[in-house]
Amino acid sequence: GQEDAAYFVSLIRSISGFPKEGILFRDFLPALADPRGLSIVQEALLKALPVAADQFDAIAGLEARGFLIGPQLAAALGKGFIALRKSGKLPPETLAQEYSLEYGTATIEMEKEAIKPGQRILIVDDLIATGGSAQAAAQLVSKAGGSVAGFSFVMELEGLQGCAALEPYPVSTLVSMP
Ligand code: PRP
Ligand code: HPA
Repeated sequence: GQEDAAYFVSLIRSISGFPKEGILFRDFLPALADPRGLSIVQEALLKALPVAADQFDAIAGLEARGFLIGPQLAAALGKGFIALRKSGKLPPETLAQEYSLEYGTATIEMEKEAIKPGQRILIVDDLIATGGSAQAAAQLVSKAGGSVAGFSFVMELEGLQGCAALEPYPVSTLVSMP
């Protein structure tokens, strides 16, 4: 309930000027380190799915922090987990997608055969800022022949229009912060 949400938010660490000047960095690792915080986030993600569980076949998570929430969510739903990795980590053959970050550019990659044609994929991550990473994930899923069922995030940074950039996909976020 509300008490759980407030408790979870109280565990999010905020660091100004990291990793660059002008960025207020939101870190949810302390919430995962806390037993109650971890179970709150796990249950809240399940409850707040952006589409019914029968509307997607697998979950894809973005390196690195999407890996911390995706597999447990997938396991709870009886689905598989697909890793979208930063470039250079996976052996060939891979599919790649370049994108811009709030603080830089990057490329994500995926094993070429990880998604079966027509598979419906829920994309998960810890946080959406500009939405660049999430859009790149959606492009990668499409390149692989999958279809994007929706997005789940733990945190949304207000004012960057990240979720608006994902329209018309269904999106759920647990907490919204400046
Ligand atoms: C962060 C965060 C998201 C992304 C959000 O990851 O975990 O994946 O940035 O930003 P965007 O909406 O503007 O794209 P980061 O790329 O810093 O990588 P990390 O998880 O490996 O630290
Ligand atoms: N926290 C974590 N990851 C991020 C942030 C943030 O504030 N902004 C962009 N990626």
